[in-house]
Amino acid sequence: MAGLKFLLVSLSILLPSPLAHPVDYARRDETCSLETAAVRKEWGSLTTFERSNYIDAVICAQNMPSQLNLAATKSRYDDFAATHINVTRSIHNNGVFFHWHRHFVYLWESFLRDECGCEGYQPYWNWALWPDLAASPLFDGSMTSLGGDGEPIPDRQPTVLGNTVLPVGNGGGCVMSGPFVDTTVTMGPFPFSDLRTGLPSNWSDYNPRCLERDLNNFGYQFTNQTMIDLALKQPEIGALTDFVNGGVAGQQLGPHSGGHFAVGPLMFDTFASPFDPAFFVHHAMLDKLWLDWQEIDFVERQFQYNGTSTIFNGASTPSVTNETDLFFLSIGGPMKVKDVVSTRSVTYCYIYE
Ligand SMILES: *[C@@H]1O[C@H](CO)[C@@H](O)[C@H](O)[C@H]1NC(C)=O
Ligand SMILES: *[C@@H]1O[C@H](CO)[C@@H](O)[C@H](O)[C@H]1NC(C)=O
Ligand SMILES: *[C@@H]1O[C@H](CO)[C@@H](O)[C@H](O)[C@H]1NC(C)=O
Ligand SMILES: *[C@@H]1O[C@H](CO)[C@@H](O)[C@H](O)[C@H]1NC(C)=O
Ligand SMILES: *[C@@H]1O[C@H](CO)[C@@H](O)[C@H](O)[C@H]1NC(C)=O
Repeated sequence: MAGLKFLLVSLSILLPSPLAHPVDYARRDETCSLETAAVRKEWGSLTTFERSNYIDAVICAQNMPSQLNLAATKSRYDDFAATHINVTRSIHNNGVFFHWHRHFVYLWESFLRDECGCEGYQPYWNWALWPDLAASPLFDGSMTSLGGDGEPIPDRQPTVLGNTVLPVGNGGGCVMSGPFVDTTVTMGPFPFSDLRTGLPSNWSDYNPRCLERDLNNFGYQFTNQTMIDLALKQPEIGALTDFVNGGVAGQQLGPHSGGHFAVGPLMFDTFASPFDPAFFVHHAMLDKLWLDWQEIDFVERQFQYNGTSTIFNGASTPSVTNETDLFFLSIGGPMKVKDVVSTRSVTYCYIYE
């Protein structure tokens, strides 16, 4: 069995991407239909068993040896975070933002299912349902949540981003309750200025620290149902990308950046945010939002591209096309954007409940 897995991994270097990550998903071929598709559920709709099973799988990832073997990657979990850090400036505020993150969440879900005993699919966080995060089943600090707030740190300054002032929340320190109190974040922090200037040469050096949170309800105004509905009204993918990130037309944050901000400093670190397990439920919701937006006019929208694969749509890479490659270091082979535009296709077979 191990031999077969090794063979498949070896073959994946040679074969086209759809076969690169075989998982025992619903059959991923032309028979993928609404009836056969895997169903990703909202965290609050999971049973206690499903929540615990998912959390156990995340802890399994945190305890499984790294394959990337950078100085700072001590576990397979770290490999996912390091991959995101490595390509951060190629996958944000640009023409592959939704595409890259869709596949990243899928690789994560597949890994949890194949190697860490996860029996369900990737859950998502429907932002609009939880105006008070500290009381939500996601962050209430119970053992079936993704952990609670960070330890309160008094007298902190707000985050200032250009003209935007983002107030502090109720925590700011290390997560104090729930399953991830002992989590070690191994890389970063990375300042926003690195988005412009690039990663420092020591980006993969080991810097062990705790999982920090600063739960706040300020972020909610950017992720509430009004904002989700506005996102769905965006006319094309460039406008949608700008809207979810914020910073346009006087809008401070959007649903993507607002959800990151609502959880705290680590989640708001554009590079290192996957070190917080909340990253994956947040990005599953963002993927759902993209899918819901696509389905308003799927024929027109599935192959719609706008932008480059450089941060802020910089001109150092060409405009995104069907053939643009997405890269995932050791966690997955390269993918063409045309192979990730549909969640019910040769590559994937899933829907959101
Ligand atoms: C990302 O990782 C690859 C492979 O290790 C490396 O060649 C590349 O320089 C890294 N990118 C950055 C921005 O450091
Ligand atoms: C990387 O170098 C910078 C500047 O010298 C330093 O402040 C930072 O702590 C270093 N990071 C790591 C992880 O060693
Ligand atoms: C959502 O937040 C916006 C401000 O961004 C506010 O105008 C709107 O009333 C809020 N909607 C709901 C449903 O809370
Ligand atoms: C691409 O997106 C930008 C916003 O980032 C928008 O101004 C532009 O009109 C879009 N291009 C097309 C062809 O729709
Ligand atoms: C991308 O691929 C699809 C499916 O093959 C095709 O319908 C579409 O025209 C292609 N788009 C471009 C810009 O080539």
